[in-house]
Amino acid sequence: MTDTTTLFDSAVDHYVRYRLAYPAEMVVDIVNRFDLTDGVGRVLDIGCGPGSLTFALHGLGVLVTGIEPNGPMLAVARRTATELGDDIPFLHKTAEAVNPDDGPARVALFGRSFHWTDRSLVLQRLDDVIEPGGGVVVVHEDTKTRSETKIGQVVEALKRDWCPDGIPGAASRGHHEDHLRPSAFSEVERVLYPVTRRWSVDDAVGHMFSTSYFNPQRLGSRVDSFEIDARSRLLELEPSGLFEEKLAFSALYAKRPRHKAH
Ligand SMILES: C[S@@+](CC[C@H](N)C(=O)[O-])C[C@H]1O[C@@H](n2cnc3c(N)ncnc32)[C@H](O)[C@@H]1O
Repeated sequence: MTDTTTLFDSAVDHYVRYRLAYPAEMVVDIVNRFDLTDGVGRVLDIGCGPGSLTFALHGLGVLVTGIEPNGPMLAVARRTATELGDDIPFLHKTAEAVNPDDGPARVALFGRSFHWTDRSLVLQRLDDVIEPGGGVVVVHEDTKTRSETKIGQVVEALKRDWCPDGIPGAASRGHHEDHLRPSAFSEVERVLYPVTRRWSVDDAVGHMFSTSYFNPQRLGSRVDSFEIDARSRLLELEPSGLFEEKLAFSALYAKRPRHKAH
């Protein structure tokens, strides 16, 4: 079985440099929906990677713990915290290993990470960790919007040609809602946050290398020929090499049902 916790070993540098920043509007919405600046409520940022959301929340005065099983990702998060002088706990563990000692927490947040976990098991565990008024928040780029943009179409074609077998763990995919609705966090609301992104070809290719499809470890000896192919397809589509895309981030807010006291 594929170890999803090492998939990003070779992608960390590209990840930090080329992944899209989460929209500030979305981060503020998460804070407001769960009243996270009361000095009591804590967020567990699970699969926090280099701390993209952890630091954004900390900057807004939220108590947050980063949880991450991948060593190189965790090292970047801890190094950034040291550089910024931020006192943020970062724990080296998987979502599946989260337990009541990590709580109580108001929110379990998954930024582009929920699909890597055993979602039903993790939601069961979180029932003992999340406080009564709290919930689970799952955020990522809206894949439907992305697949329809010019770069998105190039990426889809590259996936078909370079990764015909898909990505590890894909067999256990399925909609997040299908795991959330039967869980203790069954009241689910989906919100889209539109963003505009301007990309150069370097940005677009750097972003590809940050993904589980096209990270250098996965491409192996094919990495250079992949890059040549990706660049030429992008330039064929847009000879200026500059792209402006209307994208969207999706957030699923999953709460305990109001009528059910925990
Ligand atoms: C695409 S990155 C997301 C990083 C960050 N949350 C963000 O939004 O930018 C996915 C992260 O999930 C982590 N991951 C993989 N399997 C996991 C598991 N079972 N439990 C928790 N995190 C996991 C990976 O190591 C990786 O850092």
